[in-house]
Amino acid sequence: MSSHLSEHKRGEEEPIKLILHRPVLVDEVLSFIRDGIWVDATLGTGGHTDAILTRFDEVFVYGIDRDRESLEIAKKRLGKFRDRVEFICDNFSNLEKLVSEPVRGVLFDIGLSSFQLDDARRGFSYRFDGPLDMRMDRRNGLPLQRRLRHLTRTQMEKILRNYGEERRARKIARKIYGLRDKIETTGDLRDLAGKDPRTLSRVFQAFRIFINDELKNLKEGLFSALSILEEGGRIIVISYHSLEDRIVKQFFKENDSLVALTKRPIRPSEEEIASNPRARSAKMRVAEKIDDLRLTIDN
Ligand SMILES: C[S@@+](CC[C@H](N)C(=O)[O-])C[C@H]1O[C@@H](n2cnc3c(N)ncnc32)[C@H](O)[C@@H]1O
Repeated sequence: MSSHLSEHKRGEEEPIKLILHRPVLVDEVLSFIRDGIWVDATLGTGGHTDAILTRFDEVFVYGIDRDRESLEIAKKRLGKFRDRVEFICDNFSNLEKLVSEPVRGVLFDIGLSSFQLDDARRGFSYRFDGPLDMRMDRRNGLPLQRRLRHLTRTQMEKILRNYGEERRARKIARKIYGLRDKIETTGDLRDLAGKDPRTLSRVFQAFRIFINDELKNLKEGLFSALSILEEGGRIIVISYHSLEDRIVKQFFKENDSLVALTKRPIRPSEEEIASNPRARSAKMRVAEKIDDLRLTIDN
């Protein structure tokens, strides 16, 4: 599923194997790329940008990620493209402050990479025991384990209901709230959330969205992307759950200066899902900014 990059030393620690994220819907993304300046707003370990820069000689990419560790891996991987890529460690909600020239397109591949998910020390997954952190950007904010101590039971319930669409939100929130001072690890949270893997996914997803403010960032990121897009420029978004897809669909619909190029979301093929199960829930939507003249005439 994932490919091993290389042996990599972190300080005095033993070398560890790096797991590169396997990019989703690559051919489909490439089919919407045109020459010019692009932003990869979710660079991750650089999979999509690698494919884009390999295929298109006349593309320059601003590669953004709020996760410094991922960005460092991407820098190594994309070193071969030297002056065709610039790396920025920041939140994509700040896009218009980070990129000061009009761009041909912005790619968002929302969520987490395998590089983050499969690293027990990051605390994203219920499948591995580790500290309950869940921050994409570890320079800012507090880990989930500390944030839990300051949440009320009602807030926990809302997080589980709104971000996890979890039916048993009240019951699970009550359990977590009762033991919130004792929760240190992913294993502790898992034990309180139950045994069903679907419930565990929803509970972990809900707290991850909460701690990284993901839905707010997505809304702001889309507005920011639109503000730096040149006429004819494109926004490509790959999302992985219905809450995100709804925001993207709504955004494309509500903005008069955008026309959707995908009437329905593009989904991965059966073959892609078979070889990369994490692609299963991916949905890709693309919109193009129409030129101001056309807008004036149409109105
Ligand atoms: C699914 S991965 C992208 C993988 C990438 N396309 C690749 O091929 O390697 C999503 C990435 O987006 C980053 N990310 C999520 N929200 C972000 C935000 N608001 N600002 C910047 N980066 C963000 C995560 O840290 C993660 O590395």
